Amino acid sequence: MKAVAGVLLVLCYLAISQAWKCTDGPRLHNALQIDAGQGKVVAINKYYHVYFLTGKYWHYMGSSGFKHCSVGPAGLWAVSTKDKVFKWSAGYFRQYGDQSIRQVDAGGNGQVVGVDSSDYTYCLTSTMASAYSGVGSVSWQSLSRKMRYYSCSPYGCWGVDSSYQVYFTQGMNETTCATSGWILLPGLKMTMIEVGTDGTVFGVGTDGKIYQRIGIQSNWRLGTDWSVTGICMSARHVSYDLGNLWVVTTSGSILKCT
Ligand SMILES: *[C@@H]1O[C@H](CO)[C@@H](O)[C@H](O)[C@H]1NC(C)=O
Repeated sequence: MKAVAGVLLVLCYLAISQAWKCTDGPRLHNALQIDAGQGKVVAINKYYHVYFLTGKYWHYMGSSGFKHCSVGPAGLWAVSTKDKVFKWSAGYFRQYGDQSIRQVDAGGNGQVVGVDSSDYTYCLTSTMASAYSGVGSVSWQSLSRKMRYYSCSPYGCWGVDSSYQVYFTQGMNETTCATSGWILLPGLKMTMIEVGTDGTVFGVGTDGKIYQRIGIQSNWRLGTDWSVTGICMSARHVSYDLGNLWVVTTSGSILKCT
């Protein structure tokens, strides 16, 4: 099975000129999700354990019951299988407020965004997100637009709605969570999308293929088009940081592509 997968990857390299070179990432069995930001890489497996990458090995972070995690300027965050939000603080995941959240993103300019099971969206200001006191009031702000997946960078946020349509907003104010308007990108439909800290964008199409947003420039963060990466393994989840594209395949293995 392994050998077959290797051959497929090689064939893809030959077929596509602008190829990503993928190797089996550090081995984590039955991976569900991965997130990379600011040099750090975290992942979750099907037993709902969170792992942190150190060297070639995944280090189990000691608590289970998590289905999504995110690392970025706002720190390391995870949501539990019961849709509660936790922030990594002083060696533990500590619950952060009582807001129900299904997917969380810490990649913005210090703010944290999240999506609940009905696709309503929420934001914690950078002040709220950084000042963790264990208990007390944490007020998530409701955001206007519903999304099934939400990802922010310091250069704007990307989202996918319940019809798998892709949206972009140039700015989200980290101190107020206010957004400028969202722009709908017609065309390709995506199941998830991730923007790296440097503004690079990758997504998984509804066809399972991995796409990169091209034409992104410092004065044009929206980009111009989607380019299929030619990575042949069907993808469940992707995340990009510092030149590395991390892929979780639908069969639960991790690829590291450069
Ligand atoms: C964010 O909002 C505050 C309050 O309205 C404003 O003072 C600040 O300039 C805004 N920041 C950016 C980057 O627009």
